[in-house]
Amino acid sequence: MPDPTSTTGTGVSEREKRVIDDDGATLFREPEADSREVPATGTPVDEQDAVFDIRDLSVFYGDFRAVRNVDLVLRRHEITAFIGPSGCGKTTVLRCLNRMNDLVPSARVEGQILHHGVDLYDDEVDAVEVRRRIGMVFQKPNPFPKSIYDNIAYGPRLAGAAKADLDDIVEKSLRQAALWDEVKDRLGKSAMGLSGGQQQRLCIARAVAVEPEVVLMDEPCSALDPIATSRIEDLMQEIKDEYTIVIVTHNMQQAARVSDRTAFFITEVSEAAQGQGGDQRTGLLVEFDQTETIFSNPADKRTENYITGRFG
Ligand SMILES: Nc1ncnc2c1ncn2[C@@H]1O[C@H](COP(=O)(O)OP(=O)(O)OP(=O)(O)O)[C@@H](O)[C@H]1O
Ligand SMILES: [Mg+2]
Repeated sequence: MPDPTSTTGTGVSEREKRVIDDDGATLFREPEADSREVPATGTPVDEQDAVFDIRDLSVFYGDFRAVRNVDLVLRRHEITAFIGPSGCGKTTVLRCLNRMNDLVPSARVEGQILHHGVDLYDDEVDAVEVRRRIGMVFQKPNPFPKSIYDNIAYGPRLAGAAKADLDDIVEKSLRQAALWDEVKDRLGKSAMGLSGGQQQRLCIARAVAVEPEVVLMDEPCSALDPIATSRIEDLMQEIKDEYTIVIVTHNMQQAARVSDRTAFFITEVSEAAQGQGGDQRTGLLVEFDQTETIFSNPADKRTENYITGRFG
C-alpha cells in the first residue's frame, strides 16, 4: 500500500476518496480582488497574488513548540525557498501548508494560514481536498510499486478523470517533469526500476498530474546528481507559470538560482531551558525577502552569517 503521506491526492482511504469525488473543489473560494498591506514582509500584496498568507504561525508537537511566530506571504507563480539550519522548522512549516501535519497526532497549529483568504484549518475545509490542490514532493523519491503509467494515472483516476484522457495526462505530466523521452517506451514497466533521479522526476510528474495549484518540495534534490538536480531546477522554472512552488533546500546556490523569494529560519534556544538540560529549541523566521536581497544585502546579520557559511 502506498504511504498515505507520500504524495498529494494518493494513498487515501475509501472514505477520503468519496470526499474528493463528492465534494470536489467546492470548499475553496476563488481569490478576491481587494488588496491590503501585509506588515510581515513590508511589501504590499495584491490579494490576487497571495496564495498563502501565514500569520503568526506557531507549530507544536505535544508541548514542544517547534516553530514560532512565522509571518509569510507566498505569492502565486513564484518560487519561494525555505532555508536555514537543520531542525529550525522548515519541513514543519511546509507540511502545514497542505495539512500534512494533521497526520502527526501530536501536531498542533496556532495562528492562521489563509489560503486565498480562507482559513486552511477551518472545520469546513477538507484536508484531503487540500492535499490534492497542494501537492508535495519529498526528499526521498517514493514511487508506488506500480508501473510508471499507473504511478502518474493514480491521482487523476482517483479524482475521476475519464479513462480516455489518461494517456494524455500521463504524457503531459512526464513531459513536464522532463522524463517522457526516457520512459515513453517502458510505461508499463515498474517504476521501481528507475534510477533515483528518474524516480524523483516521476514523483514530480505524479504531483503535477492532478493539476495542483501549489507544489511543495522538501529538499527534492538532496539525493540527486548535479545533472538530475539541474533538470529539476529547469523544470521548476518551466512549471512556475502554472504552479506556485515552495522549496526547502540546504543548497544555498540552489535557493539563489531558482527562487524568487527566500525565507531564512533559525533555531533559538530558550533561556529558561539553557543550563537545565532542557531542549526548548524553537525555530523562527529571521528574514523573508526577494532572493536577490537575501543573498546580496540581507537585513539581518544572522542571515548574512548563514549564507556566507559562518553559522549553522
Ligand atoms: N513528528 C514530530 N514529532 C515531534 N517533534 C518533531 C516532529 N517532526 C519534527 N519535530 C521537531 O520539530 C523541530 C523542527 O523539525 P523540522 O523537521 O521541521 O526541521 P527542518 O528545518 O526541516 O530540519 P532539516 O533541515 O534537518 O530537515 C525539530 O526540533 C524536530 O525534532
Ligand atoms: Mg526538513
